Amino acid sequence: MKLKKDVLNKILIIGGIIILLGVGIYSYVKIKAKLDYEKTYEYKLITKGYEKDDAVKITKTFKEQEIEYILNQDVNDIYLKIASDKYFIYDKLYDYLDYQAQNEDKEIREIVERVNTNTNKKYYEEATPTDISKKELMLVNKYTYLDETYEPEELVTIPPTYSYGEIGSQKATQSTYDAFLNMWNASHEQGFYLMVNSSYRTHEKQQSVYDDYKKSYGTEYADSIAARPGYSEHQTGYTLDIFEMNTSQKTFPETESYKWLKENAHKYGFIQRYPEDKVDITGYNFESWHYRYVGVEAATYIYENNITFDEYYAYFVK
Ligand code: DAL
Ligand code: ZN
Repeated sequence: MKLKKDVLNKILIIGGIIILLGVGIYSYVKIKAKLDYEKTYEYKLITKGYEKDDAVKITKTFKEQEIEYILNQDVNDIYLKIASDKYFIYDKLYDYLDYQAQNEDKEIREIVERVNTNTNKKYYEEATPTDISKKELMLVNKYTYLDETYEPEELVTIPPTYSYGEIGSQKATQSTYDAFLNMWNASHEQGFYLMVNSSYRTHEKQQSVYDDYKKSYGTEYADSIAARPGYSEHQTGYTLDIFEMNTSQKTFPETESYKWLKENAHKYGFIQRYPEDKVDITGYNFESWHYRYVGVEAATYIYENNITFDEYYAYFVK
């Protein structure tokens, strides 16, 4: 009987110890998990005042340095709004925030578009040389320029069948010319007759084009329709000014030929570079005639998504 009691006592004591240990371990694990969670950015953001969902999104979207920055600011949904833009570029976060703070009335899309294309800054002021290794995807605009001596490789002459001016005066890169010929043939099947009015221009030639406009109309107007030397895509050899035969800058946009070109140029790798609804981004007035060869992939994306080459470059090429 005594033996039985001893065994029972032992069982009770061991059982008690096991239960105590279990409770202890359970409590320890719980407290440790709580302390660990309190160290997370998710917890800190929630304590700061963010909804749990937003706190989770912020921790998933941003890196440590940016989350620290966000924690030091007032609670704001702007960070996630900006980051959800289709063309959000992480390294530009602080530029977006600065520009948004100065332009609270602007939509997020415009904030991102402006910063991506540098159009939150003044033209020419912080211009840098363009990266010519990008070839047909090189960006030449009011913020990126070509060296005075830059000449494209493999320039070919556009025959007079397809171009105005003196014989031999119209040139483009081989790839641009090949793509133009394909486009010309397709447009001709529709009954059109496209003519190249201007193509590759040297730095000196661009100087004279710009100076002529400036002399006649003043700097502001010249800057809205002609590039300053070094800042013209015509120097790349990838650009063609195209008109329907016997039309002009004024009459070409009214033609069926223009409508066809606008809707089909991308299939051959060309984009309308200065569209009517993108003047604030490109910095140039609408040019129905100015087509830039960028290759079929880029041209199709730009056409289908209605963005400028400037923004395409910032997001996909740079
Ligand atoms: N007309 C365009 C902007 C140029 O001069 O390159
Ligand atoms: Zn042009």
